[in-house]
Amino acid sequence: MNRLVVVSNRVPAPSAGTQAGGLAVALDGLMEKRGGLWFGWSGAIVPSGAGRAAMVERAGGVEYATIDLTQEEHDRYYNAFSNGVLWPLLHTMPEMMRYDRRDARVYREVNAKLAAGLQPLLRPTDVIWVHDYHLMPLPAALRARGVRNPIGFFLHIPFCAPDVLAAAPEMTELVRDLLAADLIGFQTDNDVANFAAAAQMLAGAVRGAGNSLFFAGRRVRLGVFPVEIDARGFARTAAEMTDAPAVRRLRRSLDGQRLILGVERLDPTKGLLQRLAGLRRLLEKRQDWCGHVTMLQIAAMSRKDVDSYRALRAALDREAGALNADLGEPDWQPLRMVAHGVDRATVAGTMRQARVGLVTPLRDGMNLVAKEFVAAQNPADPGVLVLSRFAGAARQLEAALLVNPHDPDAMADALDSALRMGLEERQARWRALWASIEHRSPLVWGRSFVAALLRATTLRPTKPPLAMVPPPVIERPRAPGRLSLERVGPEMEPAVLAEMIKPGRVLN
Ligand code: G6P
Repeated sequence: MNRLVVVSNRVPAPSAGTQAGGLAVALDGLMEKRGGLWFGWSGAIVPSGAGRAAMVERAGGVEYATIDLTQEEHDRYYNAFSNGVLWPLLHTMPEMMRYDRRDARVYREVNAKLAAGLQPLLRPTDVIWVHDYHLMPLPAALRARGVRNPIGFFLHIPFCAPDVLAAAPEMTELVRDLLAADLIGFQTDNDVANFAAAAQMLAGAVRGAGNSLFFAGRRVRLGVFPVEIDARGFARTAAEMTDAPAVRRLRRSLDGQRLILGVERLDPTKGLLQRLAGLRRLLEKRQDWCGHVTMLQIAAMSRKDVDSYRALRAALDREAGALNADLGEPDWQPLRMVAHGVDRATVAGTMRQARVGLVTPLRDGMNLVAKEFVAAQNPADPGVLVLSRFAGAARQLEAALLVNPHDPDAMADALDSALRMGLEERQARWRALWASIEHRSPLVWGRSFVAALLRATTLRPTKPPLAMVPPPVIERPRAPGRLSLERVGPEMEPAVLAEMIKPGRVLN
């Protein structure tokens, strides 16, 4: 079996002090089962010049290799460019982006440094899987160092439409960098469509049969791989936590009130202010809920060195205070807000207590909290999921109450229906939701990506003698200025293919 090399910004190395987040949770199982090398940032910040080579440690079958970053690298690569430009842009919130050319330069330099740190650790039969928006230049940076191994890239967050993407000057180059991979995976077909459009419009790639693109003489596969949770494992934890002290205390404190629950990182994409507006509208419109319902919002502070996150925290503090002051009574407060993380097991137990799970991001790649809420429910008396239709998970969790988080009345109406919903409908909806997640797992997700990557690279055009090259089947442009290349013989000589599909060339 080929060794799997996972590359991600955060690495759950035994010595890493930092929390590895949802990405690591998704990949942990696969790495444990398969073994391999996990490479990325150590979580440490060191003075410039120090700690250049990768530090390698081992736990079980997994080797962790990490490199340190300097303060400037961390500020510009992670805070400013990854989280201040790419994160809002790819979530279609370009107005939030704070662009500075120097940040873009350091972002590239850090990726080049990661490529330089990884290359000496690679073996010829390794399969490389790069993760997320921090590392978009990495496939090209590795190729530039002569790495010929299969490279896959998976984007955990959404990919925006090409006209939004063009707001950051680097994006054309970054799309080209990604096209150095053999397989690029996304959460939903909408993301694939947006990326394919951007690759054609901005980078000059040409669409091939199925989900493939031709660029610089190579075929690049695109695929949809929705991230999954270990639903059965999470359900077990939630059931076991029912009588844990923290969950019992919460239950006691609710004193029979219905619980509306939100759980996420404190992040501008999560629609937290809009959610509070929805709660406010509910309590204004349907005053009979006052005193009978409590919302608990866990919004764990994250990325606190990025301005927009600090500004959001301040705005949330203000709105939470105002909401409680305006609508609360001496013996009742509508909202409890917690701005720090709560451990996963307690969250699972808390989800099982909730009558409503309110998961309403303005835009989200997938949103695993929505899936966890479903998994945590008691099948005999399940809570109701109210889910934003702008979360990737909405494509799978169709039996949730789907809402537009920008519309406070729609949120209030959905909350009201969820709170009033009878047992039979709750059970029917829950069964449909459970059926859509029960048999999936992060392990299956990871394996299917790696299998698709290996397939994509075995189908990679080799170099047959020119005489054997069949004539390509090429369609005329469907619309003026639009290239369409639906079928091209997979065994075509790359150089010939490259010549034919040079960026900008119109085929007819
Ligand atoms: C999202 C991203 C991950 C990231 C996580 C936590 O899920 O897709 O790549 O690790 O958020 O964010 P942080 O900035 O703390 O790594």
